[in-house]
Amino acid sequence: MLAGEGGLAVGRALEREGRAHEAIVARTCVVDEFVAAAAREVDAVYSFGAGLCTRRLRLGIELPWTEVDLPALVAWKNVAAAPLPGADKVRRVGLDLRDASAVSRLLAERVEPRLLVVLEGVLVYLEEREVVALLTALGARVGSTRVVLDLGGGLWASLFARRTRTTVGAHGTPYRTSLRQGRKALAKAGFEVLADRSLVDWDAATPAPRFYRPPSAWIVPGFADVARVLEARAPRRP
Ligand SMILES: C[S@@+](CC[C@H](N)C(=O)[O-])C[C@H]1O[C@@H](n2cnc3c(N)ncnc32)[C@H](O)[C@@H]1O
Repeated sequence: MLAGEGGLAVGRALEREGRAHEAIVARTCVVDEFVAAAAREVDAVYSFGAGLCTRRLRLGIELPWTEVDLPALVAWKNVAAAPLPGADKVRRVGLDLRDASAVSRLLAERVEPRLLVVLEGVLVYLEEREVVALLTALGARVGSTRVVLDLGGGLWASLFARRTRTTVGAHGTPYRTSLRQGRKALAKAGFEVLADRSLVDWDAATPAPRFYRPPSAWIVPGFADVARVLEARAPRRP
């Protein structure tokens, strides 16, 4: 499991191999867009599996902001991020997202009627049943809950992610959940999908596309599912 320096080691290994840069840049941009838009309609933001993310600072969002990650990573980041401007405005909580009851207890600690939960780059590391339990805990909280999450899947994703998968797996963090399972989990937890954007299509529409699109991707369908960002909403609970 990623934690503290372990998470950095995976990042450095991917960087050395020149892997995943394009996808991570595109994902960050698209999640930024979704979060900036949703932030106008919520009272607080939780970033689950926040890792080294500095989104609150980058986007200048003044909402109450909580980052959740594994305890070792949170302990490391509390020191590493201390010099950043506004660092004191981010609450950090060390918690294992596989423990859905602990997630429910955390969310019940504060009265925040409209919540946005960002799950960027993290669901892939959980088992499908853990994703269902986590989303069910989010959907069951009192108030209105929106999530922004990313996942990829299908033939092209397995081809493209093969080396990345091997690298992260070698660090004890295998990929466990893909797009199809993620969509199923959202439906099981009662979430309604508001937006579903392909990072491949987003990238293709930029002035300087970064993704390599193999010629056969024009013939064999599914390339757009290599990586997607979804926004979904749970029914408001009284
Ligand atoms: C690939 S990083 C994504 C970081 C950040 N969200 C981003 O997109 O830049 C995955 C993060 O999820 C965290 N993570 C993985 N499994 C977790 C778990 N069971 N509970 C809490 N955090 C977890 C890792 O520690 C890591 O910081």
